[in-house]
Amino acid sequence: MEDISLHILDVAENSIGAGASLIRITLSEITAEDLFSLEIEDNGRGMPEDIMTKVLDPFYTTRTTRKVGLGLPLLAQSARETGGDISVRAGDRCGTIVTACFKKSHIDMKPLGDITETLVVLIAGNPQVDFLFTYRINSNEFSLDTREVRKELGSVPITTPDVLSFLRDYLRTSLRDINSDIV
Ligand SMILES: Nc1ncnc2c1ncn2[C@@H]1O[C@H](COP(=O)(O)OP(=O)(O)O)[C@@H](O)[C@H]1O
Ligand SMILES: [Mg+2]
Repeated sequence: MEDISLHILDVAENSIGAGASLIRITLSEITAEDLFSLEIEDNGRGMPEDIMTKVLDPFYTTRTTRKVGLGLPLLAQSARETGGDISVRAGDRCGTIVTACFKKSHIDMKPLGDITETLVVLIAGNPQVDFLFTYRINSNEFSLDTREVRKELGSVPITTPDVLSFLRDYLRTSLRDINSDIV
């Protein structure tokens, strides 16, 4: 996986495959601790325990058509290469929580990539799912909740091209405002 955004897309797609109706994506950076972390929490049907123990093993997959399920093992590898780690656990009531942390300055730290486009693709492709996206850097925070957006839109679908292009501009501008490194 070339960048963090592609990992996020992949993990969020697991949540969608598990029937989630709400996916929380939280990215946070703490400069003083050289820490970048991402957490993706869903309210899907949850990961069976036997899969949970095996899922971070690169030679394991639930698919018979492919030798290895790569999403989570690759995320684990990307995190560990920087001296970070990954955890996968069940949510309090249902669902799954995937957390990965990275050492930001490490030479093997992947770039964030196009997080805005990743979010727009997720929103556009999954009109039945709500997303709560939060980006935290030190004491600054930006968040976008598609439930709030839908409330504002009334009967206009969130997948309307004009709405998506508004969201794209809004995300890009807001993220750049709090982190000028974001492309
Ligand atoms: N959020 C999730 N909720 C429920 N099951 C999940 C979730 N994420 C992953 N899984 C299970 O773990 C398996 C491995 O996921 P992954 O490593 O991304 O590989 P792949 O998606 O290619 O199968 C999935 O096939 C699925 O059975
Ligand atoms: Mg996957």
